[in-house]
Amino acid sequence: MLYHSPLLAASAVAAPTAASADTRYEAAVRQIWRHTGAPPTQKTALQRELVRYATLAASSHNTQCWKFRLEGDRISILPDLERRTPVVDPDDHHLYASLGCATENLLQAALAHGLQGLVEVQTDGSIQIDLEPTQAIATPLFNAIPQRQSTRADYDGQTLSTGELAQLEQAAAGNGVNLLLLTEKPAMEQVLAYVIEGSNAQTSDPDFVQELKSWIRFSEREAVRRGDGLFARCSGNPTIPRWLGNLLFDQLLTPKAEAQKCTHHIRSSAGIAIFVADHDRPADWINAGRAYQRFALQATAMGVRTAFLNQPVEVATLRPQFAQYLGVSDRRPDLVVRFGRGPEMPRSLRRPVAAVLV
Ligand SMILES: Cc1cc2nc3c(=O)[nH]c(=O)nc-3n(C[C@H](O)[C@H](O)[C@H](O)COP(=O)(O)O)c2cc1C
Repeated sequence: MLYHSPLLAASAVAAPTAASADTRYEAAVRQIWRHTGAPPTQKTALQRELVRYATLAASSHNTQCWKFRLEGDRISILPDLERRTPVVDPDDHHLYASLGCATENLLQAALAHGLQGLVEVQTDGSIQIDLEPTQAIATPLFNAIPQRQSTRADYDGQTLSTGELAQLEQAAAGNGVNLLLLTEKPAMEQVLAYVIEGSNAQTSDPDFVQELKSWIRFSEREAVRRGDGLFARCSGNPTIPRWLGNLLFDQLLTPKAEAQKCTHHIRSSAGIAIFVADHDRPADWINAGRAYQRFALQATAMGVRTAFLNQPVEVATLRPQFAQYLGVSDRRPDLVVRFGRGPEMPRSLRRPVAAVLV
């Protein structure tokens, strides 16, 4: 989906932002994107800390569409259906993939704290993680959790070595999810054509634009107050008051501007990773999310950035053609992610742990 609306053009009319809101945003970033200080010794405190790590995962539109239940030695991750995005994600595919992302962070954090997590997806789509004592291992993936971000910037256009690509492949492997790595320019141009076609369909759909707009946080003040959604600055846009964002958003989100941005993004990337699960059910979408999260954490550990470009898998009429192009027409391509080296972008925010516990 298109998170990089061209609000840069609006910078000339952007109202000055309150310094205090800016400071609060910076303080929130420091509070959210960090490792634990002294590891908690008490069980519930430790489990809350594992939940905090889980919430640092990616989620579609940064909806944080998850709830967590602590029961004895089990942590359950439940879908928060009030945080659905029915236009871009009518069958909740991304919602369950996001739960998979949170699952993976939780497992990595548990291991670092001497707990092995055994995962079981229930028929209602909730995820039970039973925690058993084991030797503590802080994996490079765990260490990378507070650094990972969806980096919506141009990358440096350099390739990755064969060894680096192998490390990414290895991190993503498992749980019935296949990774297609495209690094040749002609193949990346083909994907770009699908991304642009999907982007054109989405930007021409008023319901899509409306839903996306409802998750944009136009100012620091709004971003900090809500702690969720897509903060404009994370996509390289200026911060502006919501009334102005509401006025400008529809006019500036044009197919042409989006196509240009996607073109720069893909042409400056080292490659594109496509995650394809063996089957097409919530449990498989969760596994695709887990595979992405491991891939992104491994990339982060190597100083490589990642960002989603899911337009070809989100537009239902385009998805079968895209699958056919990829040679997986018997399956559903789940997620599309570009990668490469590039600058860090401003950070997304999260709601506090207390807000996601049930
Ligand atoms: C299933 C899923 C789909 C996503 N699709 C897109 C996308 O199409 N475009 C995009 O820019 N970001 C996409 N994202 C990234 C989220 O917007 C991002 O994770 C969220 O804003 C939080 O930011 P962070 O990843 O930097 O922590 C997706 C994330 C998930 C988990």
